[in-house]
Amino acid sequence: MTASAQDRLIVALDMPTIEGARQLVATLGNTVSFYKVGLELLFAGGLDLARDLRRQGKRVFLDMKLLDIGNTVERAVANVAELDVTFLTVHGHDLKTLRAAVAGRGSANVKLLAVTVLTNLSADDLRQQGSSLAPADLVLRRAELAYAAGFDGVIASGQEAARIRAATGPKFLIVTPGIRLPGGTTDDQERVMTPDHAIMAGANHIVVGRPITQADDPKLAAETFIHHIREALAKADVPPSGPH
Ligand code: C5P
Repeated sequence: MTASAQDRLIVALDMPTIEGARQLVATLGNTVSFYKVGLELLFAGGLDLARDLRRQGKRVFLDMKLLDIGNTVERAVANVAELDVTFLTVHGHDLKTLRAAVAGRGSANVKLLAVTVLTNLSADDLRQQGSSLAPADLVLRRAELAYAAGFDGVIASGQEAARIRAATGPKFLIVTPGIRLPGGTTDDQERVMTPDHAIMAGANHIVVGRPITQADDPKLAAETFIHHIREALAKADVPPSGPH
């Protein structure tokens, strides 16, 4: 089943309090159907919010970026699977951790997305860690590992989406943050892409935070992003986003 333009927009609830997040969800109403809850909100009641969002029929992306020994990751994923969320992130550094996450998911519906290389890491940062690969090459290597382990997809910038799509085929999910409207501010994002370009490069979903959460009119901003996604879908031969 191909996801609609609305399904492809994920709004990142990056805010310090659960009250602020609930207010934003109420303001966005039926315009937005998919939310990302990250580490900031996790420690301020984010899991309760995730349950509430599920009760409201919204889909939830839990951006937990798990990384630990295989046994611990496996058990953590098994517990997250009980929450009936749509996406969960795991750091995709090695095949052992990735396979443990897949084992922990079992037959649950949660889709596992690998975080490849955090976008704030430069080639110098990677060298300090002992990797001589350029960030884009390490992203691709890790995307291939995630694919081999049975992951459903990766988080990747728009710039990396086309190479990952070419290497992994049409069914692997590419979820892309760092999205800005043409002419919009970039905030602290180094490498931004418009929603149209990200979709046309192969992204299945885009993650948008501040351009919506801090807009004067968040609902109008979300509608504008959905409009751009819809236009790109009409033009592009975009792979289906998998069943939801
Ligand atoms: O506010 P903005 O649209 O830049 O937020 C993007 C969201 O995507 C944030 O939640 C951020 O943590 C997340 N993200 C990102 N870059 C990555 C992975 C996640 O910007 N590589």
